[in-house]
Amino acid sequence: MPFFLPHHIMSPSIPRSINVCATRLRCVCNNTMKAYLSKKKLSSLKTRFASKVKAAVGRYKKCRYWLSQGLRRIAKRRDKTADDVGGGGGRITKIDDIFGELDRDRDSLVEKLNSGQELYPNCDTSIWLRCCTQEIPSPIQGVVQGGIPGWLTGSLLRNGPGSTKVGNHEFKHIFDSSALLHRFAFNNGTVSYQCRFLESNTYKQNKAAQRIVISEFGTRACPDPCKTIFHRISNVFNWGEDQSDNAMISIYPIGDEYYTLTEYPIMTRIDPVTLETLQTMDLTHQTGIVHHTAHPHVAADGAVFNLATVPKLDGPHYCVVNFPRFDPDTGHQFTTDEMFDRIRVVASIKCRWPLHPGYMHSFGVTDRYFIIVEQPLSVSLSAAVVNRFKGNPLSNSLKWFQDCPTLIHLISRSDGQTVKTFKSDAFFYLHIINQFEEDGCVVIDICCYRDPSMIDCMYIEALQNLNKNPDYASMFRSRPLRFVLPVDSIPTSVVDDDGKTDYPHVNPETLCNLGCETPRINDCNIGNKYRFFYAISSDVDAENPGMLIKVDTYKKTCTTWSERNVYPSEPIFVPSPDAKDEDDGVVLSSIVWGGTECTNRAGVVVLDAKTWTEIGRATFVTQSPVPKCLHGWYARVV
Ligand SMILES: [Fe+2]
Repeated sequence: MPFFLPHHIMSPSIPRSINVCATRLRCVCNNTMKAYLSKKKLSSLKTRFASKVKAAVGRYKKCRYWLSQGLRRIAKRRDKTADDVGGGGGRITKIDDIFGELDRDRDSLVEKLNSGQELYPNCDTSIWLRCCTQEIPSPIQGVVQGGIPGWLTGSLLRNGPGSTKVGNHEFKHIFDSSALLHRFAFNNGTVSYQCRFLESNTYKQNKAAQRIVISEFGTRACPDPCKTIFHRISNVFNWGEDQSDNAMISIYPIGDEYYTLTEYPIMTRIDPVTLETLQTMDLTHQTGIVHHTAHPHVAADGAVFNLATVPKLDGPHYCVVNFPRFDPDTGHQFTTDEMFDRIRVVASIKCRWPLHPGYMHSFGVTDRYFIIVEQPLSVSLSAAVVNRFKGNPLSNSLKWFQDCPTLIHLISRSDGQTVKTFKSDAFFYLHIINQFEEDGCVVIDICCYRDPSMIDCMYIEALQNLNKNPDYASMFRSRPLRFVLPVDSIPTSVVDDDGKTDYPHVNPETLCNLGCETPRINDCNIGNKYRFFYAISSDVDAENPGMLIKVDTYKKTCTTWSERNVYPSEPIFVPSPDAKDEDDGVVLSSIVWGGTECTNRAGVVVLDAKTWTEIGRATFVTQSPVPKCLHGWYARVV
């Protein structure tokens, strides 16, 4: 009977020493021992040998198991360290992977929904839906807790939705609400508050008619029986006619004056002390602009830059327009009127798709470049014409090209020409945090979303039904991402596999593992290397969705401030008079309270920007509900 060792214990996966040992013994057994030993002894030897080999294999397998467990523990410890110090930031990876990892628990949300539980019990969206019914034109004094720095003298101006209703009619989207202006005035340790509606033409017409007479971003105007089909045809060709001037997004200074902005290029001048509406500036007739961002850049010398969309013979262009503050030849400082008179286009590039100009809400500026981030959310011009004829809102004309990349164009500030274009996997964004040049690269930080679903989340109905939508949190999921563009070290364009000209691809790095929105920085660092940005949370499923977040972009760490049932808005940094460090100063954030008991209350919280702790606040009791606001400006006037 042939004697042999089973081959499975001579596997290549077993260390060589065991294999050698087994081979040697096999040889001995098969030849020498077979010749001299009896069958009984041979059988006994075979059993003993097999058990020894089995034990050796067992020891080897144990070693391998413990080694792998050790490596796994080390890897876990490394990840945990990253979480602890970096909030999960610092990873360069594909955008799909970033968001794919964040939203894997849909099944548990559906189970929660089926069992009758609220999906996001910590998030109160009613703060957006409150309607101010009584303005506060004269300042009321607040109750101050803690200490308001004596050096803080100025006005925190805020803009945002003020009323979701006109008469018995309701707007469909929160971006359509009538603009309400707020002012928190700081003076010698005291704080006062007032609020007034922006008296735009749209507001006045709606108020007079007690219905929505002009279509907004997401709301169709109530049909006017007096308008004939000829009116509607005429409107298609008179693009500026019947256009809403409800500028409820932001507030910026131009020269010595303050203006409210939305994306339609009508800006409204306001009095920063009384909140009175003073004057409307329509840029459409002067420049041919049909759209501009709600976030212009104000340069250190007071010049203002904005990104606009301008139709031209060869299709729509993205144009950077400049409101100069000084005459470059004489050094004469222009008045605001003169700044408006001297608006000029300083850079212009063609939109990627002639019939689908991209939707823009912000853009970037560094010393040498304008940065245009062309996302694949576009306005379909053909749909816009049809919708305008039908009286449908602009939102019906938006088209998202999921499979097309987001393009990042670097435009030379010296000659207005495109220097380089990079591409990234598709993402949607509203706000660019900051941008700067370093070591032959342009770095741009953006609050990114996987797609534009968050716009749908801001429909009134979606906000009301938040707790019934298991996809709401993932639709609203954003992350602050950093794109590093090696502008000096790669060719202008590359050639893809099909021989077509293509753009170099970049993947982003996560700056922190929290959803951040309405980001602000120390304004001295706009366009320059910076370390900190401040934001509110956009994670509706967070333990406390009302967080103020300070992000350290060097360490990729973040610190949060929150209080139960308190919802802060865009944090605005104000440097202290003797500031040395970037974060020497305070951050101001207006606050509202969730629930039904504190609707008639406004407040402002003052945080130490360095320690990210509260140093004081002021609260105000109001006659009517106070809704949450969007953007604002700290004006050094009282
Ligand atoms: Fe914005």
